Parts: sequence; structure tokens; C-alpha cells
Amino acid sequence: MKAVVWHGIGDIRLDEVDEPRIEDGHDAIVRITRSAICGTDLHFIRGTMSGMRDGTILGHEAVGVVTEVGEHVRGFQPGDRVVINSTMSCGACRYCRDGHTAQCDVANPNGPHAGTSFFGGPEATGPVDGLQAEYARIPWAQNTMTKLPDAVSDDQAILLSDIFPTAWFGAQLAGVSRGDVVVVLGAGIVGQFSVVSAFKQGAGRVIVVDGVADRLEQARTLGAEVVDFNDDDPVAAVMELTNDIGADCVIDAVGVDAERPARGPAAPDDDTAAGFDEEVAQVAPDIAPQGDLWRPGDAPSQASRWAVEMVAKYGRIGIIGVYSPLAEVYPIGQAMNKNLTVRMGNCDHHSVTPPLIDMVAAGVFDPTALITAHETLAGVIDAYEAFDRREPGWIKVALDIGG
Ligand SMILES: NC(=O)c1ccc[n+]([C@@H]2O[C@H](COP(=O)([O-])OP(=O)(O)OC[C@H]3O[C@@H](n4cnc5c(N)ncnc54)[C@H](O)[C@@H]3O)[C@@H](O)[C@H]2O)c1
Ligand SMILES: [Zn+2]
Ligand SMILES: [Zn+2]
Repeated sequence: MKAVVWHGIGDIRLDEVDEPRIEDGHDAIVRITRSAICGTDLHFIRGTMSGMRDGTILGHEAVGVVTEVGEHVRGFQPGDRVVINSTMSCGACRYCRDGHTAQCDVANPNGPHAGTSFFGGPEATGPVDGLQAEYARIPWAQNTMTKLPDAVSDDQAILLSDIFPTAWFGAQLAGVSRGDVVVVLGAGIVGQFSVVSAFKQGAGRVIVVDGVADRLEQARTLGAEVVDFNDDDPVAAVMELTNDIGADCVIDAVGVDAERPARGPAAPDDDTAAGFDEEVAQVAPDIAPQGDLWRPGDAPSQASRWAVEMVAKYGRIGIIGVYSPLAEVYPIGQAMNKNLTVRMGNCDHHSVTPPLIDMVAAGVFDPTALITAHETLAGVIDAYEAFDRREPGWIKVALDIGG
């Protein structure tokens, strides 16, 4: 079968690989009909999330049809249409029973303290072969898949695999409640869905910060007020828009590949720039940029710093942008002295997603308008490159793999 395979930093290929087989009674095999490329995949190719193993199939977002189930999978059968959660979970440990499925004690083969297990990630997450492929093995299938109603199309469902639940979770981490002024840092697809989630959870206003024009324009169509960090200082802009109080909540939908402003009043001075350069060397010791491709973000702590500066005293920050374990710079002193609440983490997909499927099925919200590009596996490497360069029109790439 065909699959997107990670071979090294700056080196991904569409390979011919063996089809997966049931390895454990809790597994299922799914024929993938839709997959997608995510900002998380870029960290592995840029080198800002290290520890990938050569030969790992990439991708952690998919929709498909079950073709086979292991002996312990009692709730699914061949022919069932499912959305696959990006993160795996057993459904039986104390974390899963609390709904904290991203910290399942059992699913990660590296043990209970290894953290979240997800598809197509570094060694420490399994590694488990990913979902940008024609077929995939789904470990802990009973808890890692959710059945789809006919009313939800594959294109709608692909955004329920990771993006919508992550953004919803991010708004919850930030404690969004009625009337809040919420800032979303990052207008990638996670940021776009964070705007939707914040409004649906009661936000009075949502302000979005990014440096890419078409992404800001997309956020404006969702009802957000937008700030381009290359034109305005985003901290000053948020203060001006909030009577100098700051935001109630900030959702960081950027993560470790954050950029510094290239120009404008927020561009860093020489000392700050040198500090960012040191951070890049720490989080991404190995990089392999090819021209403007696969370049790591040049200011890993930029979003963290802005979040702490633009939130009100006693404000709340939810971090869903991914930071690698090597990222150690955070403005903890400023956060402490403002009495902030900062919560973060990988989405607890299994406990977050089901009500969102209902919301989409009921027509409350149609996520398909936010898919800006469709590709087949044949064009996947070019699609990765356009997405990595943040070319206009490449906010979210769905991969149409089969009917
Ligand atoms: N926690 C989770 O479970 C989870 C799940 C999915 C994705 N993620 C993470 O969410 C983040 C966003 O994912 P995506 O698919 O939208 O990625 P993306 O790369 O498409 O979007 C990131 C956006 O951030 C913008 N940006 C860069 N520097 C910035 C800055 N200093 N301030 C504001 N914006 C800035 C970029 O221009 C880009 O539009 C990634 O870090 C991804 O790994 C986390
Ligand atoms: Zn994702
Ligand atoms: Zn568990």
C-alpha cells in the first residue's frame, strides 16, 4: 500500500509499504478514506520535535471503514464507518475513566510515564505507524475509534479526528466563559477552530493574532477581530482593544514553531533576537532546511511571552500548540506575578469528540468550509511543501484516499 513515510528531518517520501495486520486482540484495521496534514506533522520534518524513527508512517488524523477487528474489540465490526482519534487510550485505566485519555496509563508501549501515545509520532509516543496511508492498524481500537452517523460526511469527520476537539479542549483549558474577551494566538486550522470553539463556549469577543494575511482573513469571516503581528504590536493592540485590561483568556494555537515579527513595532531588538536564536538551537539541534522549506520557527517562546503579556491579571491561558520536551523557556516569573492560571496539554480526544460529532450531525456547525485544499496521496509531498511554506490557500489539506 502507499503511505507517507518519515525518513529524516527534511526527508519525507510517498513509499510502497506492507499493509498492517492485527498484532494484538485490541487492534482493528481500518481502510482509510480521508486523512489530513497537520501542523504537528511539520514539527517532525522541521526538526522542532525530535526523536522520530526512520520508517515511521506519518499522520494522526483519519476517517475510514473498519475491515477487521481483534478478539477483544466487541463494539465494532467490519463495515463500520469511524473517525479515528489522534491519541490512543485504553478506556479502562484511572486516567481514561476520568476522561483524561491523553494521559492513558496503558496505551503508550513505553509505559505509564511516557506520556501521550499518538499516531505517526516520535519514539516516545510509541511509535505507532500513522494514518497518511491506505490502511492503518488502530491499537486500543474500542476507545480510539468513534462510529460516525450517516449525517456526518467524510470531509466533516476528518476535522473531528484532531482539530475541532483540540480547539474545543483549548478553549476549555483557557476557561472560556460567557462574555470573555479571548485572544487566539495562531490562525492555522487549530486557531480557526479555536475561534469557533471560544464563541460556542460563550466568548463575547475573539481577537486573533498571526502574521499571514489569508489566515487572518479566514478568522475574520468567523467573527474574529484580527491583528497582524508584522503591522502592530499584538500586546499593545490587545491592550488598546480591552480598555488596557488585557484579555480574559488566551489560547496558544502556535507552539514551538512560533515566528518572531519580521518587521513592525513588535520586531525584536538584537538582544531578544539573540535569545530566540539560542532557543532554536536548544529545541532543534538538528535541522535540514532546503531554501525556504522545512525551516523551524525562529522564536520558540514568542507565543508564550505574548500570551503572558496580553492576558489580564488573574487571566487564564490554555496552551494547545505543541512544545517539545526540549523547550524550557517560559516567562514563569511574569505569569506568577500576575496570578495567572496556565493549563496545557494534548487533547483528550476520546472524551471531547463525541458531543462535537453530534453538533456537526445536527447542522449546528459545518466544519468543511475550513478545509482549504484537497489532495490525493499522489500529490501529498507537494501539498506538504505548500502547507509548510504557508502558501495562500493552504490552511488545511485533506487527503482524499478512497471512497
Ligand atoms: N495539543 C494538541 O492536542 C494538538 C493537536 C493538534 C495540533 N496541535 C498543535 O497546534 C498548533 C497549531 O496547529 P496547526 O495545524 O494550526 O498549525 P499551523 O502551522 O498551520 O499554524 C500555526 C500558525 O501560527 C502562526 N504563528 C507563527 N508564529 C506566531 C506568533 N508568534 N504569534 C501568532 N501566530 C503565529 C503561523 O503563521 C501559523 O498560521 C501546532 O503546534 C500543532 O502541533 C496540538
Ligand atoms: Zn493534528
Ligand atoms: Zn487508559
